[in-house]
Amino acid sequence: MTTFGTPLSPHATKVMLLGSGELGKEVLIALQRLGVETIAVDRYENAPGQQVAHHRRTITMSDPAQLKALIEAERPHLVVPEIEAIATPMLEELEAAGTVRVIPTARAARLTMDREGIRVLAAETLGLPTSPYQFCNSLHELQAAIDAGIGYPCIVKPVMSSSGKGQSKIDGPDDVKKAWDYAMAGGRVSHGRVIVEGFIDFDYEITQLTVRAVGADGQIETHFCDPIGHVQVSGDYVESWQPHPMHPAALEKSRQIAKAVTDNLGGQGLFGVELFVKGQDVWFSEVSPRPHDTGLVTLCTQNQSEFELHARAILGLPVDTSLRNPGASAVIYGGVDAVGIVFDGVEEALRVPDTDLRLFGKPESFTKRRMGVALARAADVHTARDNAKLAASKVKPRKA
Ligand SMILES: Nc1ncnc2c1ncn2[C@@H]1O[C@H](COP(=O)(O)OP(=O)(O)O)[C@@H](O)[C@H]1O
Ligand SMILES: [Mg+2]
Repeated sequence: MTTFGTPLSPHATKVMLLGSGELGKEVLIALQRLGVETIAVDRYENAPGQQVAHHRRTITMSDPAQLKALIEAERPHLVVPEIEAIATPMLEELEAAGTVRVIPTARAARLTMDREGIRVLAAETLGLPTSPYQFCNSLHELQAAIDAGIGYPCIVKPVMSSSGKGQSKIDGPDDVKKAWDYAMAGGRVSHGRVIVEGFIDFDYEITQLTVRAVGADGQIETHFCDPIGHVQVSGDYVESWQPHPMHPAALEKSRQIAKAVTDNLGGQGLFGVELFVKGQDVWFSEVSPRPHDTGLVTLCTQNQSEFELHARAILGLPVDTSLRNPGASAVIYGGVDAVGIVFDGVEEALRVPDTDLRLFGKPESFTKRRMGVALARAADVHTARDNAKLAASKVKPRKA
């Protein structure tokens, strides 16, 4: 796709985002800047990305009929999934019929929509190192899997879930039932299937952002960003920084794993490959075939953020994954359950040197909902982390 049209004209280049949260919003802004006509789809009105797109549509994206009707009505050139809970078999059907191109591919969207497809691909098809794991359909099967070799400690996660929802650690036999019940309450679709994984006692974890983009010769090339370090609390990201220092052998292994997974998933776009590292050992954890939440830090560290890289790669444009300066991000949680909250302390936050903020504009706040992020750049990651956390702490969400 090398000729670009004018938005809102008959020759517009049209891109539809399926999911329009804070990550989709930044992709939409990057697309807008390139003169692309954008359609922001979400399950609720006034989602962050809908506030910056040409068109907003609100549907249940997991309903195949609704998804098909919308894509056939809008006829975008590209469909870009931003979330996992989408009727991906319908995307495969529409892609096979030549109705639309799915980013990176409809198959990649299907394989990564639950933990099972991608884990089986990585561990069994590609033979990549992962934590030991079993899939279980009942408390009985869970206990049997632990006793048969997964052992303690281990981690239980609903097969369909994200951001740590329904996920918990089991330290011994007393925790098993609690973890099962918690997973059943927290899964996206309650079909009662979980993955239990042996606990990896890693030194640190990283996100290896990996971009598949068209090179000058028309062939797909793989580009790597600098590794992003992050801290997760209860399975949800609270802080990230870039670059994360790594032993060259561990970095090399991380990139081999990232290349193997993204080669198999195929297509064009940016991927967030999550890896656990201990010494020179590296384990594959999971992959998002789209920008990654921990990659919000790239808004202040790279010459092209992960969102700009994704926009460019999917449009067939050249990419530059180089780091500009070290930096960090710190999450701002809602802290309250309320609609239409207000934020105090924005000015104080931005008085912290070399910082920036994103307030996502989500219409409703929950105590543990990510409502914004503070960004800081600095000469070193240590200072950047301190400043990002300081700036985030100055922003005080409250009921209006
Ligand atoms: N097998 C494991 N061993 C140790 N820590 C884990 C394991 N699985 C997950 N975690 C921790 O929980 C976090 C979230 O798990 P993840 O599988 O990435 O779920 P999500 O899809 O919700 O991001 C990881 O980033 C890591 O910190
Ligand atoms: Mg994860």
